[in-house]
Amino acid sequence: MVIFDKMGKSQKASNDSHRIATSGDIEVSTYLEIAKGLGGEQPVSPKETVPSGEREAIVVIDFGSQYSMLIARRVRECQVYCELVPYDTPWEKIAPLNPKGFILSGGPASVHERGAPLAPAYIYESQLPILGICYGIQVLAQQLGGQVMPGTKHEYGHAVLHLSDVDSPLFADLPPSSPVWMSHADRIEEMPPGFTALAHTENSPIAVMGSDERIFGLQFHPEVAHTPEGKTILKNFIYGICGCTGNWTVGNFIDESITRIKEQVGKGKVICALSGGVDSAVVAVLVHRAVGDQLTCIFVDHGLLRREEVERTFNVFRLNLGMNIIYVDASKRFLKRLKRVIDPEVKRKVIGEEFIKVFEEEARKIGRVDFLAQGTLYPDVIESASSGSKASAKIKTHHNVGGLPARMTLNLLEPLRYLFKDEVRQVGLSLGLPEEMVWRQPFPGPGLAIRIIGEVTKAKLEILRGTDWIVMNEIKKAKLYRQLWQSFAVLTDVKSVGVMGDYRTYGYLVAIRAVTSEDAMTADWARLPYDLLARISNRIVNEVPGVNRVVYDITSKPPSTIEWE
Ligand code: XMP
Repeated sequence: MVIFDKMGKSQKASNDSHRIATSGDIEVSTYLEIAKGLGGEQPVSPKETVPSGEREAIVVIDFGSQYSMLIARRVRECQVYCELVPYDTPWEKIAPLNPKGFILSGGPASVHERGAPLAPAYIYESQLPILGICYGIQVLAQQLGGQVMPGTKHEYGHAVLHLSDVDSPLFADLPPSSPVWMSHADRIEEMPPGFTALAHTENSPIAVMGSDERIFGLQFHPEVAHTPEGKTILKNFIYGICGCTGNWTVGNFIDESITRIKEQVGKGKVICALSGGVDSAVVAVLVHRAVGDQLTCIFVDHGLLRREEVERTFNVFRLNLGMNIIYVDASKRFLKRLKRVIDPEVKRKVIGEEFIKVFEEEARKIGRVDFLAQGTLYPDVIESASSGSKASAKIKTHHNVGGLPARMTLNLLEPLRYLFKDEVRQVGLSLGLPEEMVWRQPFPGPGLAIRIIGEVTKAKLEILRGTDWIVMNEIKKAKLYRQLWQSFAVLTDVKSVGVMGDYRTYGYLVAIRAVTSEDAMTADWARLPYDLLARISNRIVNEVPGVNRVVYDITSKPPSTIEWE
């Protein structure tokens, strides 16, 4: 896991930290990760199966751009299945996807560097359409016999694209000029044989090049929001040039997943740990649709959830969806284990270990179990595939249920492993999960325990629940809930003097934290309106006994983290 120090440089996070830097709620995985210390039998990873049906895919060859994943998301927004693969992926792994075209991503390298990554030969041999983006266009130029000159000046930011060949199929429905987002240093001096310049900008005479209406290169980024016509260009490539039909829809995904889960599970039994978060919820509903009562969900209540969260989750799954749920109120056990624990990492470890113990005890009562369903998402899969052994090692720990007994050797069922978070949400909505659950802000696995500075006690949990309830309520009333990555309260261990009526008070200091973020790796504090902050503060000091002061956290990440512990 890479985090940032105060200077903004990346550094390796300490190994024993269980802060999670990927997006979304991955509570259960975190427990499982922590539990790896307990030893035991490893679960069996599923065979790499890709969504089937009438297969068609666009494959993005990844050269490491920060936007690579965005390209894949943009393609999928056009309803075409897309995978991101490292540039050295062998053809045997690509062939089953039935690719209709390739996109070469941008990347930080220069084709002039020794050992600079290049595209695999099969993309040229396949005769399929290719679109090179940024570093990708330079790779095309270099490999196909053109000339790339090392750049003396970095061109970064807005530029205006002027089309020279308005009839190119890549430009269908495009105006003659439109803004684009540039970010490159090297430039193409000479195009490879057979290529012509299709568009230019002020600084780049070859902003777009093409050959045979099959191979194209863009010197700008079509995938970012700063290139407003970018999606049209991608769509023209995917449909007009690659001939895709667009069968990647939520409905198709659900149908195919259900068929696949049925095949995979047969008459087996499946367990799934529910957390109240969207990933585990969607997994549970999908698996339930496929195999009904062969699925049992285990909902471990560690007593560290928000007010009414337990009831809401339980009602949705048991009452509305009629699923098999084992609900375990383990709050006393957890509180006992958390006694006198102050160190945040020890809190996480203790909670993770206890969670696995309870989960295991309950799972044992079910008897033979064959599968463990988990909400692994595509970004985790990409990370594990692309960034070397360090990343793979980290990702494997998500899958590690080392705390489970040997006789429970489980196969993993990961029906969301090819979905991005926004796709998971669409699937959740389509499966009938309530909006409230589908759009829930991420909530850490150790729950309120890491939002109480110092020892966790029942009394402090009550105070924090009351405070958190007001924050949530006001943020939702202000219609800001979805715009914020997270918004919550922290109970500090500071007490200060106040005055209420004629009385002196000595109460807790509560901090409000609200951040905007794309992926939790970096975050900015939200500029909440003053009157909203005033309402939150007034209500907290008036409605929550024991709190007499409220502060707003105005630090971003880095150098702070989102959570206080
Ligand atoms: P930080 O505090 O590291 O948080 O900026 C980044 C994201 O991760 C969440 N988080 C956790 N999630 N178990 C989890 O499941 C944890 O121990 C944990 N710690 C932090 C945090 O809420 C934010 O979304």
